[in-house]
Amino acid sequence: MKKVITYGTYDLLHQGHLNLLRRAKELGDYLIVGVTSDSFDRGRGKLNVRNNVLERVEAVKATGYADEVIIEDYLGQKIDDIQKYNVDVFAIGSDWAGKFDYLNEFCEVVYLPRTEGISSTMLRAESQTSYRIGVVGSGRIARRFVPESREVNGAEVTAVMNPEREEAEGFARQFGLKAFTGYAEFLGDVDLVYVASPHLTHYEYVKEALMAGKHVLCEIPFLLSRSEAEKMFALAEEKNLVLMEASKTAYCPAFGHIVTLVKSGIIGDVVDVQASLSKMVPPPTRELDAAQAGGAMTEHAPLTLLAIVKLLGVDWKDVNFHSLIKDGVDIYTKGVVNYPHATASFTLGIGVKTEGNLVISGTKGYIYVPAPWWLTDFFEVRYEDQRNTSTATTARVFATRFRNGSP
Ligand code: CTP
Repeated sequence: MKKVITYGTYDLLHQGHLNLLRRAKELGDYLIVGVTSDSFDRGRGKLNVRNNVLERVEAVKATGYADEVIIEDYLGQKIDDIQKYNVDVFAIGSDWAGKFDYLNEFCEVVYLPRTEGISSTMLRAESQTSYRIGVVGSGRIARRFVPESREVNGAEVTAVMNPEREEAEGFARQFGLKAFTGYAEFLGDVDLVYVASPHLTHYEYVKEALMAGKHVLCEIPFLLSRSEAEKMFALAEEKNLVLMEASKTAYCPAFGHIVTLVKSGIIGDVVDVQASLSKMVPPPTRELDAAQAGGAMTEHAPLTLLAIVKLLGVDWKDVNFHSLIKDGVDIYTKGVVNYPHATASFTLGIGVKTEGNLVISGTKGYIYVPAPWWLTDFFEVRYEDQRNTSTATTARVFATRFRNGSP
């Protein structure tokens, strides 16, 4: 029996999908269709898929072409599936021509003609206009955000605001955006706001944006006091708006995978989380400037605390800090967070260099994530008996390199 496999999102199932599935089926006797999971699609930047995975699976089944439907949930799964199901032919639309040649090592690869003039993206676009994102601030992070945002569909950076005209205009020219120096005028021209301005300006920018009815994504450190943060979340809730801290690590697929594995008990009960982050910054820079709320805590604590809170929750008993202060900023801070049944620590350096890894220790084993763990692309689950470590629990997920449009 000749087995054929093909993959896709199959959102808003259309004639192009039907043609592809029919042609794929004709290549053999048995057709396996891999439908992408919602989280896998989100991880590669397909954020506005309309049908959820169950609806998409049902739609593929209803075509009558698939003998078996499976879910595609991780990078590298195609090779696993080809071997597991003894596949003879891998088929995909010609829009992917060349991208899957690496599978030739495992089976025959066939690029089928794509149906012109139709795609899920087109169907979605017919009923949705793209969100206009406005960037506040034009520094280093904003500069990275704009090109990254192009990998995401359904939203587009259209404007930048910086009270310094030259800065705003230079940035706008570089990325093809509208430049604003006035905040109210800028807010009138966007649907959502990404705050990437200096730390001390976050509160006012977030507040005004929410008051104007705009959704807000705010860079870390979100706000510098608990009461300000509570006020802003209350305001967002009252106005029914999304307010989020821009903590990228929380959305790295491999980081989510770690959290799921830990919750499933793979290392037993979590007893200790150690998260470190150290990046040396040469002076003069705002990170070393007390007047601009610099310091290791404000720069890096949000990411390390994210790991601790995701794994151990928010019901800690106490927190202790040990800092090395120079010119009014902590160039190194170690914090210990004690929970009733666990402990955690974070080690942060901007003027002290140390290892930047994440270690999650449990009663059965531990998870080790090497530096830079906050860009999570690799981790290992390790046990006393090292032979178990080299089993299926080593995961390498190229979270940052593979996005929408990549295999
Ligand atoms: N396909 C096709 N002809 C089209 C659209 C898709 O042959 N007009 C094929 C793709 O090449 C792929 C399969 O259908 O082999 C599933 O693709 P999918 O990504 O779900 O479809 P698209 O409509 O291209 O989706 P999107 O616009 O979201 O990328």
